[in-house]
Amino acid sequence: MFIVLQLQLAPVDHWFQETHMQNMIGQLELAHRLLWDMNVHKGNKGWLHWPAEDHKRLLEQVFTIANQFRQMSDVTVVVGIGGSYLGARAALSMMGSSFPYPEDVDRILFAGNQLSSQYMTDLLRYLDDHEVTLVVISKSGGTLEPQVAFHVLRDYLEERYGENSKERICAITDESKGALNAFARLKGYSVLPIPRDIGGRYSVLTAVGLLPMAIAGLDVDEVMASAADAYNAMRSTPIMTNPAFMYAALRHFLYMRGFTTEVMVTYEPQVAHFAAWWQQLFGESQGKDGTGLFPTTLQYTTDLHSMGQYVQDSRKFLMETVLDVHFADEINTVVLPEDLDEQSQYLAGKTFEELQDVAVESVVAAHVNAGVPNVVVRMSGPKEQVFGELVYFFEFACAIGGYLAGVNPFDQPGVEAYKQEMQSRLR
Ligand code: PA5
Repeated sequence: MFIVLQLQLAPVDHWFQETHMQNMIGQLELAHRLLWDMNVHKGNKGWLHWPAEDHKRLLEQVFTIANQFRQMSDVTVVVGIGGSYLGARAALSMMGSSFPYPEDVDRILFAGNQLSSQYMTDLLRYLDDHEVTLVVISKSGGTLEPQVAFHVLRDYLEERYGENSKERICAITDESKGALNAFARLKGYSVLPIPRDIGGRYSVLTAVGLLPMAIAGLDVDEVMASAADAYNAMRSTPIMTNPAFMYAALRHFLYMRGFTTEVMVTYEPQVAHFAAWWQQLFGESQGKDGTGLFPTTLQYTTDLHSMGQYVQDSRKFLMETVLDVHFADEINTVVLPEDLDEQSQYLAGKTFEELQDVAVESVVAAHVNAGVPNVVVRMSGPKEQVFGELVYFFEFACAIGGYLAGVNPFDQPGVEAYKQEMQSRLR
């Protein structure tokens, strides 16, 4: 059973009702069969049963390295791009604090996710004032952006720490092959595996996400436990009442009726990076063979004052998925004072939470009335529970959606094409 996730379909009633879903039952059952059949897209579904498997040994390794890195450094640079970056960033942002507490989440800096000379120059300058460790994440071991960032940074560590630099570097890469794996073993770095059958964008619950989370002091065990709750919910909930099937069916239905774009709307700034992870997951998994909703993100209420006009009044091709997250473990009640100016008096004594709730309700109502289908994913619980359930829910729904659309949700030929183009120009 999901502990904290609720899918609210009421706002989308005008477009999509239970009868529509019943009419899709044949397609949904087929998608269900294709997903659980490990012979279909064999070698890409390691993520499916992952939360239910025993990861004691991996977690021991993760905690050992995390503790060493926390002791010997105050800054860890995590190098990676795409699926080797976005999940860790989403986790740290969602489960951390909005402001720097250098000993925890903000001790992690990211690199290797672009080719900016300015960024690297600034980073190296910044590192001079800190004790540094380095985590390089690349499944293939041959992606250009992390490759070049890694070599610049390990060269920097070698200059600074000499032979001891190897104790400060961990590579997370394919279990047994690839240039990074070979290089790391040659140099004597710690190495953690990315299972061969788990692709980048489905890998956040492996060492790819878990080591950065552990170095940042987050509760990795709780994240894994809540992903396991979500896994059990997926196995035990029948299609017609299963939120992941409902969400996948709804998206597919709206796409077939001409909606081309799905906006993930977040209200908590800390959740915005999660939406970026979701964007990659759905964009890379379903945007292929001439099909797929275009996934994009907006942060409300901020973007209501920039893009709200467009969402409300433009041509009707958008649907919105509202990620309405409430973190139950935070003492975060901010109450407005009673002595407000005359114009603001109606707000006296209200909490920010109340205002946020009213904002979500009002925006959903206004957009639905204007012809923008809205679905709400509501989460209320501890951060680790929210993160673990959300990750597995969206991975599962994304794979189901891929099967509904008739595409392979696990490859990314378009990404490979650009990588090869760059390689051929640079070699
Ligand atoms: O999801 C994916 O497969 C991609 O986004 C990859 O994660 C990304 O291209 C980085 O690849 P690699 O981990 O091999 O460096």
